[in-house]
Amino acid sequence: MAKLKVGILTSGGDCPGLNATIRGAAKGCYELFGEDKVEIIGIQNGYHGLIHNDCIKMKPSDFSGILTRGGTILGTKRTPYKMMQVIEEDKVDKVKEMKQTYKEQKLDCLLTLGGNGTHKTANLLSEEGLNVIGLPKTIDNDIWGTDVTFGFHTAVDIATDVIDRIHTTATSHSRVMVIEIMGNKAGWLTLFSGVAGGADIVLIPEIPYDIKKVVKAVEERAEAGKFFSILAVAEGAMDKDEAELKRKERMKLRAEAGYTTATNRIASQIQLATGFETRAVVPGHMLRGGSPSAYDRVLATKFGARAAELIKKGKFGYTVAQVDGKITENKLCDVAMKTKFVLPDDELVITGRNIGISFGD
Ligand code: F6P
Repeated sequence: MAKLKVGILTSGGDCPGLNATIRGAAKGCYELFGEDKVEIIGIQNGYHGLIHNDCIKMKPSDFSGILTRGGTILGTKRTPYKMMQVIEEDKVDKVKEMKQTYKEQKLDCLLTLGGNGTHKTANLLSEEGLNVIGLPKTIDNDIWGTDVTFGFHTAVDIATDVIDRIHTTATSHSRVMVIEIMGNKAGWLTLFSGVAGGADIVLIPEIPYDIKKVVKAVEERAEAGKFFSILAVAEGAMDKDEAELKRKERMKLRAEAGYTTATNRIASQIQLATGFETRAVVPGHMLRGGSPSAYDRVLATKFGARAAELIKKGKFGYTVAQVDGKITENKLCDVAMKTKFVLPDDELVITGRNIGISFGD
């Protein structure tokens, strides 16, 4: 009898926990079907590998020793969903080629590990008739329909460590430190690490700030004898005026003013208004590096094993999720075009306000 063939790819920005999830899915398949009855095909560099038939046969030993490894053993690439159905200069019909690779590799199903863009393409392929199962990855935690994505909690731990370290130097120098945390659209990572790291001011895209209120919060701390302040600022934070603009217009205006994100501008504005020495810090991709936390290893293993169960049940067109602490799944079509934003009345926002954190609004 022909072996069951399972394709796996990781797409979009990497994060800790990708390998742990791959391992969970592979080991789950070997357990459920038998090592000699299933073959795992590793698709290299995300959808790029699926388009260009860049695939390798994996052996059970390939999944050993990768639980703790950061990044992804399969490689990853950003292939923007917007361009998937567009024929570009290379004349490649990407959707046709992906279906062709699936057929040529004789895949029975495809596991796609990724964020919102990855899920959109996964849904597209599912609508095209492929057997697809998604697995929700991103440090941004912004995939709709799941309490949490793998990679998020590790990034929260790293960002919190950054804030802790900045805290000591901020105190020694009596400085205002503006720390930029990744997250372009959603502020989950900034909110969680800001609260965990004891930030005084937390600015996220979902709550546009007023710079006067931010300055006032810093001044009030100084009046109370606290001559340092810590700001956790999401990469995608914007002020109230910018919030009125379309993203393109906002980025254009920022670029003209010499900024890519709001962080440096906020630091200059605070220094100018208060006279306090202010510094901006950008940990950037450090937040996506290294080994997954224990929490993420467990979550990734649960998610991967669930994907194997879905294959066994023949339940395709779904993405794995955790809802109210229980592992479940959502239809890809329900998840594909949505983003999970921080709501202004989120419990953690309320908690933050209740302990005096300023959200700059
Ligand atoms: O989606 C994860 C993420 O790290 C975002 O927080 C960030 O805006 C983006 O990826 C950075 O992308 P890149 O690695 O392509 O610079």
